[in-house]
Amino acid sequence: FGTATFNESEHLTIGGCDTVTLAEKYGTPLFIYDVAHIRERARGFKQTLNSLGVKNKVIYASKAFCCLAMYKLLEEEELGCDVVSAGEIYTAIKAGMSPENIEFHGNNKTKEELLYAVEQGVGTIIIDNFYEIELLSAILKEKNQKQHVLFRITPGINAETHDYILTGQVDSKFGFDVNSGQATQALERILADDHLVLKGVHCHIGSQIFSAEGFLAAVEKMLTILNEWKQAFGYSVDVLNMGGGFGVQYTEADDPLEPEAFVKAIVNSVKGQCALLDYAFPEIWLEPGRSIIAEAGTTIYTVGSEKVIPEVRHYVSVDGGMGDNIRPALYGAKYDGFLANRISNEQQSPKTIVGKYCESGDVLIKDIELPTLRPEDLFAVTSTGAYGYSMANNYNRNLKPAVVFVEDGHEKLAIRRETYEDLISLDCE
Ligand code: LLP
Repeated sequence: FGTATFNESEHLTIGGCDTVTLAEKYGTPLFIYDVAHIRERARGFKQTLNSLGVKNKVIYASKAFCCLAMYKLLEEEELGCDVVSAGEIYTAIKAGMSPENIEFHGNNKTKEELLYAVEQGVGTIIIDNFYEIELLSAILKEKNQKQHVLFRITPGINAETHDYILTGQVDSKFGFDVNSGQATQALERILADDHLVLKGVHCHIGSQIFSAEGFLAAVEKMLTILNEWKQAFGYSVDVLNMGGGFGVQYTEADDPLEPEAFVKAIVNSVKGQCALLDYAFPEIWLEPGRSIIAEAGTTIYTVGSEKVIPEVRHYVSVDGGMGDNIRPALYGAKYDGFLANRISNEQQSPKTIVGKYCESGDVLIKDIELPTLRPEDLFAVTSTGAYGYSMANNYNRNLKPAVVFVEDGHEKLAIRRETYEDLISLDCE
């Protein structure tokens, strides 16, 4: 598992760069992103969809990780992006992303955010609820403008993942419910609107999903309702957006399908359903976040104190924790890690890697087999690229780490480390 490479100094290297040198230069904790891996994943999605002969869009879910450098990379790779706030729209546009390639999601977009999106020329707005139909319609009417929209359907699928990241089940805050007829009501309302140009529908069943079954069930459910609408209203979609949620490997125990396999399963299933129902094959849009960015990211920490409780546990503390990676505390997420600044052949024993935050739940990795760790050692935690920095916080007034992009032996600072001045910059005396 993993493809860690060490150089002749026995230092972990990523993208041809020495992580010990990067840690010295930028400090720890430090997020390091392997740009070649991001590009490979982005191209993998596009190439698979193209090879299946379908019109498509790959729309990266910004919430997994975004910053100016990331949006620039998306633009280079010709991916769109999915945003969920005006802040993400602002960053994407500042980075030079074409507004046309931006897709705006969210269950409670504010009036100001919708207005901003319309004014900036955001390509597609995904309508989530009845309130939003009225808000958006009023803004467009006032501006005498038209807007391409999709609307989000909750297909009523229980994918197998953590409850907090399930989204397609009936009892969800997102989207229009199918069973109670709300989705059909939404369709009629949107079709009747002169300013909303309906391109199709969206669904997203959850995140960190390992098998294709949930997606296949969702495709079947979506095509069933689409076919009903074709019969009842003569309306067929141009676009079917099946969301993201493709699982990744955090530890050796994780065994998700490869991204290409998810894509093939989804597209073939849409083809099958369309043939069965004699429904015109729509354009397929996908919104991968984690599967593009998670495995590209590694966090480097510096080892500090330890506490050995005989026959109970061996704690080793690092200089970050739940402020830069809240996933273990929030979802019980599992990670893998190893020494980054030397190769040790010493006997291994279970160690629990904890953070520096004032919280007992601040455990990054529980009981992992490791050799002796000494103060000042560097410890790498892998697959931290998704929902790590993007969910980072300043709990205990710790500083958010720097983020470095590496590729072909070159480094580029993508986000600088916070300073103490940054910390008090919003405080008023
Ligand atoms: N599209 C929509 C509409 C979404 O809500 C999401 C994720 C995605 C795409 C991207 O899903 P992905 O491919 O990244 O799984 N903070 C949680 C994950 C929350 C996901 C929210 N929505 C975590 O750390 O596991």
